[in-house]
Amino acid sequence: MAKKIERIGIMTGGGDCPGLNAVIRAVVLKAHARGWKVMGLEDATAGLIDLDYRSPHGNRWLEPDDVQDILVRGGTILGTSNRSDPFHFVVEENGEKKEVDVSDTVVENFKKLELDALISVGGDGSMKIAQKLMDKGIPVVGVPKTIDQDLGATDYTFGFNTAVQACTDAIDRLQDTAASHDRVMFLEVMGRNAGWIALASAIAGGAHICVIPEIPYRPQAIVDAIKRRLSKGRPFAIAVVAEGAKPAEGDQSFAGPRELGAMPKLFGAAYKLAAQIEPHLDLDCRVTVLGHIQRGGSPTQFDRILGTRFGAAAVDAVAEGKFGQMVALRTPEIVTVPISEAIANERNVDPNGQLVQAARDTGISFGDR
Ligand code: F6P
Repeated sequence: MAKKIERIGIMTGGGDCPGLNAVIRAVVLKAHARGWKVMGLEDATAGLIDLDYRSPHGNRWLEPDDVQDILVRGGTILGTSNRSDPFHFVVEENGEKKEVDVSDTVVENFKKLELDALISVGGDGSMKIAQKLMDKGIPVVGVPKTIDQDLGATDYTFGFNTAVQACTDAIDRLQDTAASHDRVMFLEVMGRNAGWIALASAIAGGAHICVIPEIPYRPQAIVDAIKRRLSKGRPFAIAVVAEGAKPAEGDQSFAGPRELGAMPKLFGAAYKLAAQIEPHLDLDCRVTVLGHIQRGGSPTQFDRILGTRFGAAAVDAVAEGKFGQMVALRTPEIVTVPISEAIANERNVDPNGQLVQAARDTGISFGDR
């Protein structure tokens, strides 16, 4: 029989994204209706690594009143971090930084707080941590989030839809100014090693070029595509460039060397591409890096609904003792799947899939042919 649940914890991990507050709200409202208490843990696992750690968010019991008005707000009221992996936690000793394993402390603190279960809301990194905490005895239910849409086992993660909308709005604006000045506008968007955000927004925004990590590009193919537009009397173009884009001969672009305890920072793919293209054209090139604008803002209705459904389903999963599972959308149902399945493979764009084909059919060049 499943253990009686009275007190649960909830944390949000990794990069923030619109829809996290919808999850928190749904969890708190549904758990309270069942008579449970919900502790909001601050800044991902930081709140469990050190119980005296205090950010402005603070580990605290969340009441329905605390979450009534947060549905429409981006970000997360619990705070988050993509540097609090307890299995690779960065500490400074004698002026030197090193990674240590503090997961035993997390387990001890979880017990000290007398929590019966943990809902971990996060992307692939957070789900990997959730799986390892589960293996150490913490009963965890996962909730998938990421703007990158690169997590397996769920049709959609919330945050993606809002991010794509922000990119689409940017493309719409760039179209106006590109057409007025006869320019090629390069828009760098996020997505890490997956091209979902770039592909979806390029289609939605009617871009002319889309460069994604899954399809290595040749600069000459992009020059040719722009010249074809020129020959048809269209002397401007919009190129959406995923931050993880890769030339067929060369590497991805990074902001610098990887910092200890952090993911490598992808940056500069659009600048690199513009520099490769501009000398071959009689058109001005301009670069916009959209950056964290994609991560903020009020969630779209899609992300509010998905976040709400995931939060409610996570409470059900806890009640049913489905630990080690992650809630997932298998349209139209919300189901649970093993966290291990979700993290087994990164989800990438299929270069031969229908979405890429639809883009090609509507004249988008991926710079590969
Ligand atoms: O995973 C979400 C994401 O926004 C990626 O698209 C991006 O590469 C990364 O996080 C940026 O992380 P940070 O906020 O640490 O710069």
